Amino acid sequence: MSVVDDIRDKLDIVEVISGHVPLRKAGRNFKARCPFHTEKTPSFTVSPERQTWRCFGACATGGDIFNFVMRKDNVEFGEALRRLADTAGVEVSTRPKEQVDRDEALFRVNQEAARYFNEMLKSPEGRAALKYLNDRGIDEKAIEEFQLGYSPRGRDRLRTHLATLDANLGHAAEAGLLRSDDEGNVRDFFFGRLMVPILDRRGRVAGFGGRSLDGSNPKYINTAATPIFDKQATLYALDKAASAIREHETAVIVEGYMDVIAAHQNERKNVVASMGTALTERQVYLVRSLAKTVVLALDADAAGQEATLRSLEASWRAMERRRFGQREEVALRIAVLPEGSDPDDIIRESVEAWDEIVKSAVPYMDFVIPAMARRHDLSTPQGKGRAAEALMPIIVSMGNAFEQDRYFGQLADSLGVTREQLQASIGKLRPATRERRPASAQSNAPPSSTTVSPLASGEREPLEEFVLAALLHWPELIEVVGDHTPDEFNRTENRELFTLLLATGTIDELQRRLDESLLDHFTRLTESDIKPTTRQSAPKAVEHALTRLQQRYLRDRQAEIVESLELEPGAQLPQEVKDSITSVNSKLKESYLVGVREKPHR
Ligand code: UTP
Ligand code: MN
Repeated sequence: MSVVDDIRDKLDIVEVISGHVPLRKAGRNFKARCPFHTEKTPSFTVSPERQTWRCFGACATGGDIFNFVMRKDNVEFGEALRRLADTAGVEVSTRPKEQVDRDEALFRVNQEAARYFNEMLKSPEGRAALKYLNDRGIDEKAIEEFQLGYSPRGRDRLRTHLATLDANLGHAAEAGLLRSDDEGNVRDFFFGRLMVPILDRRGRVAGFGGRSLDGSNPKYINTAATPIFDKQATLYALDKAASAIREHETAVIVEGYMDVIAAHQNERKNVVASMGTALTERQVYLVRSLAKTVVLALDADAAGQEATLRSLEASWRAMERRRFGQREEVALRIAVLPEGSDPDDIIRESVEAWDEIVKSAVPYMDFVIPAMARRHDLSTPQGKGRAAEALMPIIVSMGNAFEQDRYFGQLADSLGVTREQLQASIGKLRPATRERRPASAQSNAPPSSTTVSPLASGEREPLEEFVLAALLHWPELIEVVGDHTPDEFNRTENRELFTLLLATGTIDELQRRLDESLLDHFTRLTESDIKPTTRQSAPKAVEHALTRLQQRYLRDRQAEIVESLELEPGAQLPQEVKDSITSVNSKLKESYLVGVREKPHR
């Protein structure tokens, strides 16, 4: 059950509202003068059965406890949720409030540091760093987009700056910006370096990479692990790449900061970086909900490849994505870079050459089977055994029987064994893989996640989800929304997402403003396959779904009015309501007829 459901279950709307507004019983409902506008006759109604409120007067709005508190206290959804959670005694997040507050403070101090470094880059002191960037072809636009900066020399410049702002230096230390030296003096962690802020998925500065400018080693130093930064669980620039990844259904993973910046500067925006580490399972989790295909750009250098391949064997299971409980593999493809050049060099020389490299990426298995010969001594039975052991679990778990068969044959060939011999080796492997399968099905969610399966959480609103999934997938469809309003969405989470979509217009901005409590729901919808099957059919399908939501909304309003006027069923309704219902009905009929005309077979 989601927190929203939990709160709704525990609180009674009549009780919540009567804490603010004097309610008077009127038939099945409660009435009051509307708290949101001045009126003489009470037109504000609360329905204990529906757990809704509505003003039938001038404001003509309504909703549930959440948007009541939002309106009454003039707060955002997240704040209303937390206030109601307090009342209900529901824990909103598994993290204690002090921790959430502390994290926010760390993000704030990082943001200030990023701003300061960026300012320093443009100051006389930053001249050499700026020249370095310009010489590398990084333009002003990219500098701003990636908030690049310069940490001045001297060992307490940032500390001094933060102190003049009265910032909490303890937080700065906790964020990894300051550290104590051997004599116990608090010093800047970064100085004299080119600064690359590392943003989290939601665009908050979580940490930094700092590049040396004088050729000294280490080339980069990065923020160590902090409460808000874990390099292994971060993909550099995912915040900026997410919408392009979703649009192309493909993510390209490179190694370095500079590779990403070069790619984005050249309008290849679906590129993120693993930041030098071999791709981790947690990094895979971050992209798999956005992309159907993940292209991994690999160094030609053999040592680097070896590390990557080894880590992929550990993380390949994360390449399955879950769509409403069903397994679906994410296609992992490998693009090998030409010897001695990194994506940055290639892109700057010829972006077409880069596109070609990405396009010619081969399926993981086609890459890894031939690579086996380099990794194991296939002339010995032991070497063959190890190769089979590494790859058979992956092959056995493939969803597609034809693919499975092909790779099975390919592996047997490259090991120089017969299918029968390989088969015999599976005999030994089977028990192990059997044990692993159910475990992997359960551990589809990131290990740290404590969310309950969405399938387990009661009432879903498939039509609402259909609309949202389509809009999240094709944000430009927002234009078909017309005069439909968030009120037409019953489920609180859906209504809030729809409101945010209308308010922001872009997924990136939406993600930035999204309250943490809605993140899981949002992710699930972006993964959802209940959206229209093709882009072409989408506008009509979404329009149709919205019309149906609107019709339901109006019918509910009709029922409410009947209740509130305490009319006998069948008695005269206000003309306004009748008019809108008639118009929606005819709109629906029309769209239905269009559908019939377009699909004569159905
Ligand atoms: P690269 O050496 O390819 O870095 O390492 P780069 O981004 O292309 O930088 P330039 O082009 O030399 O300026 C790839 C990534 O590995 C991590 C960084 O995240 C870097 O972007 N790395 C590398 C470190 O963390 N520390 C290092 O000392 C080197
Ligand atoms: Mn490079």
